[in-house]
Amino acid sequence: MDSFKKIPGQEENDVSTDSEDILHVNGGKPLNGAIKVRGAKNFVSKAMVAALLAPGTSVLKNVPEIRDVHVVSDLLRLHGVNVNVDGEKGVVTIDATHVKLASVADVDTLSGSSRIPILFSGPLLHRLGEAFIPALGGCAIGGRPIDFHLDTLRKLGATVDKEHKDGIHITAPNGLTGAKIHLPYPSVGATEQTLLAAVLAEGKTELSGAAIEPEIMDLVAVLQKMGAIISVDVDRTFRIEGVKELKGFTHTSLTDRIEAASWASAALATRGDIFVKGATQPEMMTFLNVFRKVGGEFDVTDKGIRFWHPGGDLKPVAIETDVHPGFMTDWQQPLVVALTQANGLSIVHETVYENRFGFTKPLVQMGATIQLYRECLGSLPCRFQQRNYKHSAVIFGPTPLTGRDIDVPDLRGGFSHLIAALAAKGPSNVHGISLIDRGYADFRGKLRQLGADID
Ligand code: EPZ
Repeated sequence: MDSFKKIPGQEENDVSTDSEDILHVNGGKPLNGAIKVRGAKNFVSKAMVAALLAPGTSVLKNVPEIRDVHVVSDLLRLHGVNVNVDGEKGVVTIDATHVKLASVADVDTLSGSSRIPILFSGPLLHRLGEAFIPALGGCAIGGRPIDFHLDTLRKLGATVDKEHKDGIHITAPNGLTGAKIHLPYPSVGATEQTLLAAVLAEGKTELSGAAIEPEIMDLVAVLQKMGAIISVDVDRTFRIEGVKELKGFTHTSLTDRIEAASWASAALATRGDIFVKGATQPEMMTFLNVFRKVGGEFDVTDKGIRFWHPGGDLKPVAIETDVHPGFMTDWQQPLVVALTQANGLSIVHETVYENRFGFTKPLVQMGATIQLYRECLGSLPCRFQQRNYKHSAVIFGPTPLTGRDIDVPDLRGGFSHLIAALAAKGPSNVHGISLIDRGYADFRGKLRQLGADID
């Protein structure tokens, strides 16, 4: 049973012409009020995959009503797993006692819907000795290769067959064996891949150069509840001692710090005042520092964080995106909209994705002054130095924004366009709005709660 509200199943990067997929926004009004943010999209989906590692029942709480949860539920069900989702309570119950190989044709129907399927590899190899991974989706914000994932699986003893036209066939009939693995870049997904594959591998695995995002550490907590033995050194090295079997877990997800920061940026851009129930300080410290430097005010309480524009001018900032504990790449797009209203020159150096400024073009058409550069406008070591990627942005403000027709390009870029439309004078039509359902639960309802004039 799936009691989550059905969300339009639009393909990832289509520009929709469907009239129901357009949001009419009458901007220029501050967003004021309180909204609730639930669990993190980028943790919940991974914890659901972890449940596949053990026979028995796992219970995940504080689950948001987003499309990625449907995609993972569907993929689990195709593999014979029993999934029950209670959307109202935000509880997902997964019984992975029985696991079977899904038919390639069935798995293919989920091709291109998310990047999560690649993380099914380790659990399926342990339970069945083989896995079929469909072509991956996710936001078009760069090449998004999976070479680190496949290298890791090979090092643990799997055979990867990339010949299948619709996906990847991976086998490990004799199980996986612990190995020494180093990631060339601290990839979130490849770190999770290694953890999910190594916990049941025979012997020890050392993973150096790993990512340590709070969502990853919450996944480690889930795996530990299941019976895994995982430690992490100060230099971002995970040590995993393989165990023979795992059991189900009960866990409450950490809050979605990307969604919380998106609403905070919306408060700044619209000169509003938003209390984000559920937002927590430790995971957002880096964002909060920048929010304060820009001139935003916030107040941390036991129930959440209130973010507001105190009046007067916002201040420009220079930021560089980075892996944790740096400034998240997923925070930059909503903040850039607020920076168009800051008094002076702001600089954003994107060091995680090579192509994450595509969303600025419609902002310029709305009146923003944003210039993109191939040069690294910052001091962090960056893989895109001397490469042909426009991965630095200079934003000059304040510039009034004017409403217009916008096509949602990707999840975070799309939410930023929505913020821009809400901050802009006059009407905007935001097309392809259902793409935002992938990561922002009930954003239409929340916008109404905040007094937005939308239709
Ligand atoms: C996760 O993506 C998130 N997605 C992303 O959130 C987030 O932006 C990203 O981590 C960074 O924090 C999910 O958790 C589902 P990566 P992931 O592997 O794991 C390169 C959102 O909007 N790389 O850390 O796919 C890659 O190209 C999304 O919620 C390789 O070169 O990101 C990128 O430049 C968008 N080879 C960098 O590493 C690989 O095999 C970081 O990617 C894997 C990654």
